[in-house]
Order: sequence, then structure tokens, then C-alpha cells
Amino acid sequence: MARKRVGILISGRGSNMASLIARAKQPDCAYEVACVISNRPDAKGLETAASQGIATAALDHKALGSREALDAAMHEALLAHGCELVACAGFMRIMTGGFIAEWAGRMVNIHPSLLPMFKGIDTHERALEAGVRVHGCSVHFVSEELDAGAIIAQGVVPVLPGDDADRLAARVLTVEHKLYPAVLDVLAQDRISMRDGRTVFADDAAATLSILQNG
Ligand code: GRF
Repeated sequence: MARKRVGILISGRGSNMASLIARAKQPDCAYEVACVISNRPDAKGLETAASQGIATAALDHKALGSREALDAAMHEALLAHGCELVACAGFMRIMTGGFIAEWAGRMVNIHPSLLPMFKGIDTHERALEAGVRVHGCSVHFVSEELDAGAIIAQGVVPVLPGDDADRLAARVLTVEHKLYPAVLDVLAQDRISMRDGRTVFADDAAATLSILQNG
């Protein structure tokens, strides 16, 4: 089967992006990274991607002026690179309904909490504040409501005595880096899809991903 072409959307550091690129280098991976797009021209992840020979596009949301203009530019770049799937990896702009609808079922995101808890930002601080004993990350299809799309897989970590937000974030991040490439690979194999706002798993896709749930 031809490898699916993926466009990755970032806004910053790009460590999840790097983990997706690393998986794509393995011969058995079902996807390849066609381009990396950032809404911030100074995103560190753009340099990392370029240094690995991946096409990059800096689409400055400030210069573009509106959400519609950014999304139109991203859509054009994704099509120009032949992308069939989109992976948001620390992409920090709210997207328009039109763009989300265009990529429905083909665009995923990683969020640093066990959704539906702690949607939005500052998830690690809020998990500590709430006193939860487990925390983690979720990979989900992107839908119009922020961080509310169909959940595909989740990774769980303990919250330990003495944790601060940085320590907890680092523990979650190591799981993110395993979970996200695994989910994208299974998506690229057409073993998961979105139907009526839920994730549908073909064959043993759910079992494949659940192995990773505790990191
Ligand atoms: C990650 O924690 C991801 O879950 C969230 O933003 C952070 C991005 O980090 N969406 P990086 O840019 O992938 O290093």
C-alpha cells in the first residue's frame, strides 16, 4: 500500500512532530511526512523539520490577518504537498469550521490531558490543582468544538507526590511521543475512522493502541 502523505501543523517546539518524523523513517511505517506548517515563523520545530529534509511552510497568522486567511493558506499548502492526512502537534490556533469540515476524519490532534478532563491550556497545572492521581494525553479527531473530537487513544501516567507542572508535563510528554506516531500509523493504514462523532476501530486496531496506553 502506498504510504499516506501527512502534513503536520505546529506552533512551537515540535517534539511531537519530531517523534512523528522519526516513526516515518522506519520502513514499515504507513505514512510519510510531506510537509510541516507553522503559523509562527520562529517556531523551533520548523528548523528541526528542515534539517531533516522535510518541506516547511511558515504561514504567519499575524501577517495573514484572519483565521480564514490562515486556514486557506494552510489548506493550499497541504494540497500542494499532496497531503491526505493532517496531524496537529502543538498547533495553537483555533481553526475555522470550514477548514475542520474539509479535513473531517482525516485530521487528528494530541492534547496533554485525559479528555474530556482539562480541555484548553495549562492542563498540567489544572491536573495538579484538581488533585487527580492519574493524568496523561489523548489523541483525537479534530472537530469544531475545541478538544472535543472523537477520542482515538489515551496514554496514562501517575501523578506523583512532589510533582510540579514541569515534572508532570515531562512524564506525559514521553507517552505522547510513543502514542502519537502509533495512532497516526494505524490511521494511515485505514484501520480507524470517524463516524457520527465516534471513533470506529477496524479489526484489532483498538487493541494495538491499548498496548501503549500506559506508555
Ligand atoms: C504537547 O504537550 C501537545 O500535547 C500539546 O502541545 C505540546 C506541544 O509540544 N498539544 P511539542 O511542540 O510537540 O514539543
